[in-house]
Amino acid sequence: MSNSRRYASTIDRFAFTLPLLLAVVPAQAEMLELAKTKLCLACHSVDTKLVGPAFKDIAAKEAGTPDVIERLAGSIRSGSSGVWGPIPMPPNGTVSEAEAKTLAEWILSLK
Ligand code: HEC
Repeated sequence: MSNSRRYASTIDRFAFTLPLLLAVVPAQAEMLELAKTKLCLACHSVDTKLVGPAFKDIAAKEAGTPDVIERLAGSIRSGSSGVWGPIPMPPNGTVSEAEAKTLAEWILSLK
């Protein structure tokens, strides 16, 4: 392979990888924004227990358990009680099924 072709293929690889890298960062920001819009962040934070458990603690406890996305998405929409302590989570009525799944996947990724 000539030098110029090797150079071209490096550029190709970079051009392919860069959008993938860039996609990851806004995804985090978008998910935080969604959590903020849906008022999750009134009771939760990523790292610290507030009214509800830290999202990282939820990830640590729940990741890998059976049907976890469906279960957490269900809790997110319908509320939850008795799993983490005496304070229940009320239903979050403005969250669609798809948003609840996206939020559940995001929370589980926060380990
Ligand atoms: C009014 C406060 C409040 C709001 C608003 C709230 N949560 Fe919660 N959340 C809690 C509490 C308290 C718990 C613990 C409930 C329990 O012990 O079962 C909890 C638990 C959870 C759990 C763990 C459920 C389980 O079964 O382990 C997830 C996931 C979660 N919240 C996500 C969210 C998301 C996403 C939103 C926004 C759509 C949200 N919460 C909004 C207070 C809240």
